[in-house]
Amino acid sequence: MAYGSFVIQKDLSFTIARAEIFVIMGGSGSGKSTLLNHMVGLQAPAKGDVLYDGQSLCHAEGEERDRLRRRLGVSYQSGALWSSMTLAENVALPLETFTELSPKQIREIVSLKLALVGLAGFEEFYPSEISGGMVKRAGVARAMALDPDILFFDEPSAGLDPITSRRLDDLILDLRGIFAIGDRAVFLDAETQTMIALGNPKKLRDESPEAKVRAFLTRGEQDAGGSAG
Ligand SMILES: Nc1ncnc2c1ncn2[C@@H]1O[C@H](COP(=O)(O)OP(=O)(O)O)[C@@H](O)[C@H]1O
Ligand SMILES: [Mg+2]
Repeated sequence: MAYGSFVIQKDLSFTIARAEIFVIMGGSGSGKSTLLNHMVGLQAPAKGDVLYDGQSLCHAEGEERDRLRRRLGVSYQSGALWSSMTLAENVALPLETFTELSPKQIREIVSLKLALVGLAGFEEFYPSEISGGMVKRAGVARAMALDPDILFFDEPSAGLDPITSRRLDDLILDLRGIFAIGDRAVFLDAETQTMIALGNPKKLRDESPEAKVRAFLTRGEQDAGGSAG
């Protein structure tokens, strides 16, 4: 992954299983958001590829590419809701843009998605009228609007207090709980510009040969308010 001739990360290689909760770790500026953007097709790799069920996202074009990208739902760091739209309007937007559903069908789906993230009854609220945690939840509801196979979150708990952040973690677990279990992580290192750990975070915390990785994961525990990145 590079911006012009400036390489952000290289030699990344990992597979994510269906229903797995996979975490991209690493310090600020190591390339987590950049990697997420590559995985959802917003940025193209300088070299390499991103495959879904063996199909290249980077080489897909036209309708094939649209179909692949429709399988991916993204929830951005800030929640990234339109402030001039109600929660219902925000969640409805992808449905209005990408489907032929009737307004009534869209309203029903919107209410269902908001209910799934614990925001039933908040349809007509504006983002400024609800808490930061609720904005994030609404962002998750919008990311789920088109029933994606895969949900991406960029720093879901950034800026949230520990309790709200835990609730959001629980929500993500609940959503995944519908499908199956698993948890692994990749650690991006800014210094060496590549991944220096891949595996179960608890195992990495205790057994990683990389002191940096162990320290990073322990720090997260000592400081409940900190973000694991
Ligand atoms: N649009 C851009 N142009 C050039 N460099 C960028 C751009 N966006 C991010 N970077 C650089 O890429 C690196 C990784 O950034 P980012 O993926 O945002 O890291 P993280 O999400 O891990 O904090 C940083 O050094 C950042 O300065
Ligand atoms: Mg980032």
